[in-house]
Amino acid sequence: MGQNEILFERAQKTIPGGVNSPVRAFRQVGGTPRFVTRAQGPYFWDAEDKRYIDLIMSWGPMIAGHAHPEIVEAVKKAAETSFSYGAPTEGEIELAERICQIMPSVEQVRMVSSGTEATMSALRLARGYTGRDLIIKFEGCYHGHADSLLVKAGSGLLTFADSTQNAPSSGGVPHDLVKHTLVLPYNDVAALEEVFAKQGNQVAAVILEPIAGNMNLIKPSQAFLAAMRSLTSQYGSVLIYDEVMTGFRVALGGAQSLQGIAPDLTCLGKVMGGGMPMAAFGGKKEIMSKLAPLGNVYQAGTLSGNPVAVAAGLKTLEIISRAGFYESLTRQTEKLMAGLKQAADEAGIPFAVDSVGGMLGFYFADQVPTSFEAVTKTNIEAFKKFFHLMLDQGVYLAPSAYEAGFTSIAHDDAVVGEIIAAAKNAFKKL
Ligand SMILES: Cc1ncc(COP(=O)(O)O)c(C=O)c1O
Repeated sequence: MGQNEILFERAQKTIPGGVNSPVRAFRQVGGTPRFVTRAQGPYFWDAEDKRYIDLIMSWGPMIAGHAHPEIVEAVKKAAETSFSYGAPTEGEIELAERICQIMPSVEQVRMVSSGTEATMSALRLARGYTGRDLIIKFEGCYHGHADSLLVKAGSGLLTFADSTQNAPSSGGVPHDLVKHTLVLPYNDVAALEEVFAKQGNQVAAVILEPIAGNMNLIKPSQAFLAAMRSLTSQYGSVLIYDEVMTGFRVALGGAQSLQGIAPDLTCLGKVMGGGMPMAAFGGKKEIMSKLAPLGNVYQAGTLSGNPVAVAAGLKTLEIISRAGFYESLTRQTEKLMAGLKQAADEAGIPFAVDSVGGMLGFYFADQVPTSFEAVTKTNIEAFKKFFHLMLDQGVYLAPSAYEAGFTSIAHDDAVVGEIIAAAKNAFKKL
């Protein structure tokens, strides 16, 4: 038995399923999860000292590459003066100011420790601000695991649970609560218009992944975004952009900067903490001022704005703000996707690719899907085989066909070339 298997067996005795977040368990693709011992740049090493090129990068955060020396230094320096105070620091102000500069729609921001907390709090705030209960989300979008949002919730839940229409995607979520969540198909303008025409004045918020990454990578149409912005404004509903994944990843200013949309609230996470537990929600001052201690919408956190996480976040934002960062990230990602597509074409395998900045999607299908339903019709069996053929060759893809992938600035030409060479071998064996 290999060391990964030994550790997995041991883990399952004291940790449910052997993992601390379900999709790590390889349930969709089968096999043994790799236990990581260390990582550097675009690589990590497992418990058997095998090296992998990482195309998940901790599910998004590690955009500067693993163990970036400047971020490590910033974290060490912060850690030396204690890990947490539970009192405000100047670093938090700097981070808030930088976020507001980068994303002009964010006038004020509150820091939390996970994306789940960010979306959960943004929803509560939207409900408190509007005095309404109803929220609209879209099929296949995942916004963390708060009760109201676990309906048709994409990725991990697509892999593990029965996502029946109008039912919670998870056990333990009261039907009484999800009756306040309306789920519409992504990119369906007519459905959105119909719901607003009937119930618009009851809608507290519309929440969406502005480029979806939890049903593989799915882009919105400009018509869909425009309809959403105008309907929410018309009916006084709060438009929440969940940029936990896309923020600082598809572009410095997130999806909203590419789409020319100013949401009312934005949720952030992942990249903004550089790999430390750090997230945030922010937006219009008028809405944010309803939060305690100014207003009556309660939200709090012992470790919120944690100084070590703030140091990692500030240094990460500094690095990604440097000239040419996103041009280079985008170029390398596009090069990778074009190479994969060409390799699949040469092998005669139906395959489509897409990417935005350092976020990527590939699909065993003739065309890039535009909805959750279309993703479920791609060839999942081919994906599973491809996943293992790549893993054997030291390329670590997301272990589910319903997940986007992620590159970093450390994915240089040599790394991209190695992935494409591995894919050529894999496609031949499919
Ligand atoms: C779009 C989106 N929102 C929210 C979350 C939840 O973030 P976290 O896992 O930090 O709770 C995720 C996590 O993958 C996400 O992709």
